[in-house]
Amino acid sequence: MTEKPVINFGLEGIYVDESAISKVDGQNGKLWYRGYTIEDLSEHSNFEEVSYLLVYGKLPNKKEYEEFVKKMKERRELPKEVMDVIKAMAKDSHPMDVMRTAGSMLAMYDKDLNNKEKDATIDKVITLISKLASIAAVTGRFRKGMSYIPPDKSLGHSANFLYMLTGKKPTPTEEKLIDLMFILHAEHSTNASTFSVLVTASTLADIYAATTTGIGTLKGPLHGGADEAALKMMYAIGDPANTEKYIEEALEGKQRIMGFGHRVYKVYDPRAKIVRKYLEERMGQNPSEEVRKLLEIALKAEKLMIDKLGKTKGIWPNIDFFSGPLYRSLGIEGEMFTPIFVASRMSGWGAHVVEYWNNNKLFRPLEWYTGPLDVPYIPIDKR
Ligand SMILES: CC(C)(COP(=O)(O)OP(=O)(O)OC[C@H]1O[C@@H](n2cnc3c(N)ncnc32)[C@H](O)[C@@H]1OP(=O)(O)O)[C@@H](O)C(=O)NCCC(=O)NCCS
Repeated sequence: MTEKPVINFGLEGIYVDESAISKVDGQNGKLWYRGYTIEDLSEHSNFEEVSYLLVYGKLPNKKEYEEFVKKMKERRELPKEVMDVIKAMAKDSHPMDVMRTAGSMLAMYDKDLNNKEKDATIDKVITLISKLASIAAVTGRFRKGMSYIPPDKSLGHSANFLYMLTGKKPTPTEEKLIDLMFILHAEHSTNASTFSVLVTASTLADIYAATTTGIGTLKGPLHGGADEAALKMMYAIGDPANTEKYIEEALEGKQRIMGFGHRVYKVYDPRAKIVRKYLEERMGQNPSEEVRKLLEIALKAEKLMIDKLGKTKGIWPNIDFFSGPLYRSLGIEGEMFTPIFVASRMSGWGAHVVEYWNNNKLFRPLEWYTGPLDVPYIPIDKR
């Protein structure tokens, strides 16, 4: 081919696969997991059930649900060597770097590592969903020099995560909120990290290798790292009265406002709407001064951005914008937001790998070469 083809930078607008896992309607601000609306799931379901739904493609009956939950509970403990590595890294590394390394180590304990049969893959996904949450919680404690809190089998997945992280058993409201965040982050079609997971899986590398790729991809501030970056911005604004000045100067300086904009949603992200609703309810529950201020800043920034960029450029709040104040209301610090995203998104990554291996095809797109050809080779002493 000599004529330059149309290049879709960032694969924007390109379909790379077909999938029955989730649908993102970016024009109308809707999201479905396996056909169920995110609003219904976040109100009526829980993370374990949603994970089952994503991975198996249907809601479980009571027996299936109980077996699934039992497996997840039994797999929460981490191997000693993994704990040691977390301890060695936690104080001087970002928790996402710890997650990437410790998550990758889990491959070492899988005696059936390269089995890609559907049932074996699902079993590995259950292990990863269970253990990545423990890795996140343990990392959160060790980075602060705090002691290990063993998992508690009387608690559900998200409540146990919060318990292992904070050492306090959550109230029913706190449990609902952390579980909500796990549900809302569980799946989102071929976003950058899921796509990267699939690229690795398509080589028929093992699922731990694919997951490690996904964790690395999720770290970036244009993707999962936006939640931590949005909180940092709110802290930098400091006082709600400074919001307008800060945002205007940032936009004049061509900076991106983290937690806004999305490749697919050109309207309000439905997940952000849900987080915003629960956050506003939380404000009625006597929040700390810090959380009250953060929400005030967030609401001012939201209004400004919608006026300036929402209606004109289709840049609206995404899920990462209101997550910060909500997590802070649960006592979770900013560096832990993206690790929680990893622990939640494992369900979606896993579901995609199971689906993709059903009909695997190596990913190998093309790039248009713009360099010279047939350049004469000059020996090093003659250059
Ligand atoms: C998510 C994101 C990368 C998607 O971007 P995209 O579809 O590739 O769109 P582009 O980066 O091409 O941006 C299109 C235009 O909108 C602007 N824009 C996009 N997001 C913006 C933001 N958060 N703040 C300010 N301007 C933004 C760009 O500067 C660009 O402006 P221009 O046309 O004048 O050059 C982008 O919106 C972004 O960087 N958001 C902040 C990070 C974030 O919250 N990520 C989490 C997503 S869930």
